[in-house]
Amino acid sequence: MHHALHSPRRSASVVLALVLAATVAAALAVGASARASRSNHRSKSRSHSVQKVVHGAGGLSITSQPWGTVPAHPPLNQALPASLYTLSNAHQMTVKITNYGGVVQSIWVPDRRGHVKDVALGFPDLQGYVTDFTNPPAGGSGDTYFGAIIGRYANRIANGKFALDAVYTLPQNNGPNTLHGGPDAYNTQVWNATPSAGPHSVSLKLTYTDPDGYNGFPGQVSNVVTYTLTQDNALHIDYSATTTKSTVINLTNHTYFNLAGEGSGDVFGQLLQINADSFTPTNANLIPTGQIVPVAGTPFDFRTLKPIGRDIHSAGAPEGNQLVLAHGFDHNWVLNGSGMKLAAVAEDPSSGRVLSTYTTEPGVQFYSGNFLVGDLVGPSGNTYRQSDGFTLETQHYPDSPNESTFPTTRLDPGQTFTSSTIYKFATAGGGHGHGH
Ligand code: GAL
Repeated sequence: MHHALHSPRRSASVVLALVLAATVAAALAVGASARASRSNHRSKSRSHSVQKVVHGAGGLSITSQPWGTVPAHPPLNQALPASLYTLSNAHQMTVKITNYGGVVQSIWVPDRRGHVKDVALGFPDLQGYVTDFTNPPAGGSGDTYFGAIIGRYANRIANGKFALDAVYTLPQNNGPNTLHGGPDAYNTQVWNATPSAGPHSVSLKLTYTDPDGYNGFPGQVSNVVTYTLTQDNALHIDYSATTTKSTVINLTNHTYFNLAGEGSGDVFGQLLQINADSFTPTNANLIPTGQIVPVAGTPFDFRTLKPIGRDIHSAGAPEGNQLVLAHGFDHNWVLNGSGMKLAAVAEDPSSGRVLSTYTTEPGVQFYSGNFLVGDLVGPSGNTYRQSDGFTLETQHYPDSPNESTFPTTRLDPGQTFTSSTIYKFATAGGGHGHGH
């Protein structure tokens, strides 16, 4: 390899690839011996694509690599470099996360035969996210929010208005509504990132301070979001936030799952169970009417596992025209129970991959990828069309600031908002129950 690096016959790109390979190989050996660490140092001086590695016990690791530059945009108006972090455990699970929007770029998990695939929709590079999140082409899928941290207020606020002690007016970026915190919200910010390794897990801690008054929200909000990969193939997401003035807060993650692999087609045959006896129907702008309606006897009944596609084309009674208004499922389910509890189980019968979602949040927005129209290309090289993925956005109910009967999303100075969600992967083999 050393010889190849100095061969004048090699093209620049081959040399670059070899330098990268040498760098990665050297970086992977960090901590193994003093000699390995010296060779890593030498590699660093040759290449900008340095991987930094933090090793945990028992095959756990987290590495980082430069991932391009995010163009200047509000509220900082400063171009900033982004990184891609790779979290791996000893059980074939790898999660890649960028500090651009805290986006979960990919989730690699095994099927029942040990074949690993990426089950999260996304883009192969930073530019894909920047374009989609800040300047999506007209007539396409629009802003998908693929994999991102969503805040300060996930989901919709009707007419971009809410009252606390005063009335606040927000930018309307979704018809008359404010969606996912407004333009240039949490999903577009470059978060400060700190990787770490513990005995049973590796973590990436992300922080972002949202300025007082930005996008119309009162109070400066300090956010901490920590992603943790554990040895039992779970991705934990822990959120906390404090504010300098009374405000509203609703944080979630916007990963789209396809348990057969991103870019493998629609999810209609994948099974879903949602631990909810009721849901919040909406008006034509996808704003809750305020009612909490039992799912029994409606297409919204996911109390036992059923294929996502079984009832998705239903147009009428008894639930009204809910699936017409939303072009599929795009609703908040009112979760049963309190504290950390099971929210949903999804299963791909063909691969056996199972995703169990747990959360401390009172609701989950199950969105069946209704607005994907085939213009976006994932890392697989395939396009994403309608229902090629689904989200399980754990959160408070949409438009809670304007619905006094919904659990409150108010955060006051001196309080700390906390929330936790776990996406845990396993496999089910031929009807023999779940395990991995
Ligand atoms: C979801 C939302 C959908 C759609 C999507 C992004 O969270 O409920 O209506 O806006 O994000 O395309």
